[in-house]
Amino acid sequence: MAETYFKVLAHGGAGSDNAFKDGPETACLKILNQLKQGKSVLDSACLGVVSLEDDGRFNAGVGSRTRANGAVQMDASCMDSAGGFGAVAAMEGFKNPVLAARLLVERNEKLLAGSGAEDFAREQGLEVFPGSVSAGGADNAGTDTVGCVVFDGKTFASALSTGGTGGSPAGRVGDVPLIGCGLYAGPYGAVAATGKGEAIALNMTAFRAYQMMEEGMGPQFVLEEVLDWFEEDEDIGLLLVNRKSYAAGSNRSMAWAVME
Ligand code: GLY
Repeated sequence: MAETYFKVLAHGGAGSDNAFKDGPETACLKILNQLKQGKSVLDSACLGVVSLEDDGRFNAGVGSRTRANGAVQMDASCMDSAGGFGAVAAMEGFKNPVLAARLLVERNEKLLAGSGAEDFAREQGLEVFPGSVSAGGADNAGTDTVGCVVFDGKTFASALSTGGTGGSPAGRVGDVPLIGCGLYAGPYGAVAATGKGEAIALNMTAFRAYQMMEEGMGPQFVLEEVLDWFEEDEDIGLLLVNRKSYAAGSNRSMAWAVME
């Protein structure tokens, strides 16, 4: 019988303190447990992100940073190499936006924003969290999107969640819900980006990184190339996985973990 091959990576965002590495480690353990129970790669990646959204030390879910008007607005997305994609943008009042993104994979509409995303989450019975409350304190100051990439030997998946840039205008949306910008997954691998959303989107970062892996370049080589696309004042971090290996890194500190 063929040996099962799992590769799982999680991070707490560009700028996250490596002292909080236990957060991504816990996310990886939860993903591995899900995979071992036969859950799909996509569901497992999203549950890894839920763990980071619930943590409070990272800029996502209950730890999301507040906008200039004091609101908490979150973006999230997920994608797998079977062609599934779902995303939400500028969503308020829910604990786990990545679960709304996951539910949209099954729908005709792939990206819902603002009150439309909130109505959808309410209809689906997702857990609410007061819209103007962030549990994140000094721990997540200056940190960015959390993410996971997963490979089970057959299918790749990537999932992201963020509270966006702290102090940014309400309604500002970065790279996270944009396919090929913050994330991409296809038959050659999966990519999850974190950092300055505008720069990540302008570079079409995740899709171009994926294309490099498709052309045969290894994750570590791709990581180093991509980090070079960004200016010093533009935070960027990446997780990459392909059939043979993986890479993770950032031009800032970044708490991350890998498990196989
Ligand atoms: N990378 C997340 C954001 O800029 O919103």
